[in-house]
Amino acid sequence: MKPADLIQLKQRGEKITCLTAYDASLAKLMDDCDLDLILVGDSLGMVVQGEKSTRTVSMPEMIYHTKAVAKACDQALVVADMPYQSYEDPLMTLENAKLLIAAGAQMVKLEGGAERQEVVEALIGSGIAVCAHLGLQPQKVKAAGDYKVQGRDQSGAKRIVEDALLLESLGVDVLVLECIPSSLAKLVSDQISIPTIGIGAGKDCDGQVLVCYDMLGITQGKLPRFVRDFTADSPSIPAAIKAFVGAVKNQSFPSEKESY
Ligand code: KIV
Repeated sequence: MKPADLIQLKQRGEKITCLTAYDASLAKLMDDCDLDLILVGDSLGMVVQGEKSTRTVSMPEMIYHTKAVAKACDQALVVADMPYQSYEDPLMTLENAKLLIAAGAQMVKLEGGAERQEVVEALIGSGIAVCAHLGLQPQKVKAAGDYKVQGRDQSGAKRIVEDALLLESLGVDVLVLECIPSSLAKLVSDQISIPTIGIGAGKDCDGQVLVCYDMLGITQGKLPRFVRDFTADSPSIPAAIKAFVGAVKNQSFPSEKESY
């Protein structure tokens, strides 16, 4: 899969499948299950390192995990998260993005909208494919109470739509929408030509992403409503990954109950 293939999936109305992975073994299973995208997410700070937020993840750690995942992937597009404070200005952004690309990523992901215009322009101007991330932005979360649905009020919704249109005009390839009402995600997905990948953003996004440990039933405690444990009806991990791919492609995931 190449960045340009994603827009064709959207044009054909075929939903895009994405999971996070942080190591070669799981990434290989996902690649063998024909997953479209694998995200080396900075969620690794929480699910691998046991931290309370994604903010402590460093560039060397992202490079380490990106290398491991990229080595295992033959067909899936590998996207690497730019960690907190690694994209503060264009020069720093380019230096760090190039390190992630050298580690094997084909695209980098960063959080934010208009406030990131300069760094997005620098990346795209240098030929680096970009995935942006709007709605709930985990790198902005300081306390547990900040994990809440975004864009419920008119001004929040308007900002998300405006940011999405701006990011599209800058040449961003893909847009992750996290924890926003389904109706708003549909509006954004209908208004832009680039694919949206939702997590807690309803069925009308052009694709879906979940954190692998959540959908494999590993994460303990109270999980957000958008998480489905795909191991519940699957005899093995590959079967659970295939069940996720099937459910996204046939649009039976997410259900209304798994959305806002
Ligand atoms: O880091 C991550 O896992 C993410 C997903 C939640 C989209 O950004």
